[in-house]
Amino acid sequence: MIIGCPKEIKVQEYRVGLTPANVQSYVEAGHTVYIEHNAGTEIGFTDDAYQAAGAILTDKSTLFARSEMIIKVKEPIECEYNYFRENQILYTYLHLAADKSLTNMLLERKVQSIAYETIRTPSGLPCLAPMSAIAGRLATLEAAKFIQKTFGGTGVLLSGTAGTPKAKVVILGAGVVGLNAAQIAMGIGADVTILDINTARLAYIDQIFGMQIKTLTSSRGNILSLLPDADVIIGAVLIPGAKAPHLLRKTDLKLMKKGAVLVDVAIDQGGCFETSKATTHNDPIYELDGVIHYCVANMPGCVARTSTLGLTDSTLEFGLKIAALGVKDACLSDPALLQGLNTYNGKCTFKGVSDAFDLEYTEPQLALK
Ligand SMILES: NC(=O)c1ccc[n+]([C@@H]2O[C@H](COP(=O)([O-])OP(=O)(O)OC[C@H]3O[C@@H](n4cnc5c(N)ncnc54)[C@H](O)[C@@H]3O)[C@@H](O)[C@H]2O)c1
Repeated sequence: MIIGCPKEIKVQEYRVGLTPANVQSYVEAGHTVYIEHNAGTEIGFTDDAYQAAGAILTDKSTLFARSEMIIKVKEPIECEYNYFRENQILYTYLHLAADKSLTNMLLERKVQSIAYETIRTPSGLPCLAPMSAIAGRLATLEAAKFIQKTFGGTGVLLSGTAGTPKAKVVILGAGVVGLNAAQIAMGIGADVTILDINTARLAYIDQIFGMQIKTLTSSRGNILSLLPDADVIIGAVLIPGAKAPHLLRKTDLKLMKKGAVLVDVAIDQGGCFETSKATTHNDPIYELDGVIHYCVANMPGCVARTSTLGLTDSTLEFGLKIAALGVKDACLSDPALLQGLNTYNGKCTFKGVSDAFDLEYTEPQLALK
């Protein structure tokens, strides 16, 4: 198969879909790989290293024109739409339930799209987990920064010091993001409460943290009870492939301290606070009703080298399978990949996406026939 990996063009996005080591794996398996000039230069993957691994360096237009499969990191943005053509394979993060225009483009152009974040094995979401781990750890670090007075925060140190109170950190969602956010918050020495609707997950968190963080069932009442004292709230919920539920309403902000910080990690699925709107690494926060909002949709992008290594380790195996068999046979032979299929031949094959936009849903097995 002919594979192309373009340079990412979102603001402050330095991750890249393939490392030189990945290129070597594809080339050794008999595939041709095009890499856009300088796709990984900013994070230490030089054009020379790609070439030495067997890649052909080229410009964006040639890459898209020649490649049967495009491997990216972030969902295409509007200025990239025109590069796609019928039956081209797109293997990347997509988050379609939060992006109607991209969904329409993929359906109209009959792109075969596989979303990293919906590939699902019995143990979870293998291509989302590495980024979630990074985003969770960063969420606490970013909160620790933006709660400082210089940024308009309450001016507390998350750990407190001997004789001063610890900051109260509330984490909504105890999945991969939530657990990693909790690890850093606890490591820093904050007072941590984590909520989830999944009580088995809360029991697991209780065990691994040796009962040192508070766990609570996620209900409207429990969330409201925590708002007046919270210094930081981290939103880390996920209903796979669907828009995030709004766990905080605009009116709830009035219950919070002036200068408290909300970090909405779930912003890539539309956000789990009603008042969230996506921000960028260049301008990461805004204040609303006295509460600071941090809603960067590509948080791991700021630690792009670690993120690229973590991401590509998890996407390589599935990517090699698609390259060897094509989308149809790869998906039919692998139930995890089948769940990654979001659009095929103009049909929407992911329920969360069709529900989000009232589109006709086609079972992936049927669409592939
Ligand atoms: N902004 C970024 O850069 C970035 C990076 C990585 C992941 N994410 C996003 O972070 C979110 C979480 O990802 P994850 O990998 O931790 O998912 P996960 O599936 O591991 O965990 C999600 C958790 O949310 C819980 N949940 C669902 N509804 C809930 C509710 N009403 N109240 C409390 N908990 C609820 C689930 O039970 C689950 O434990 C996703 O939206 C993901 O796309 C964002």
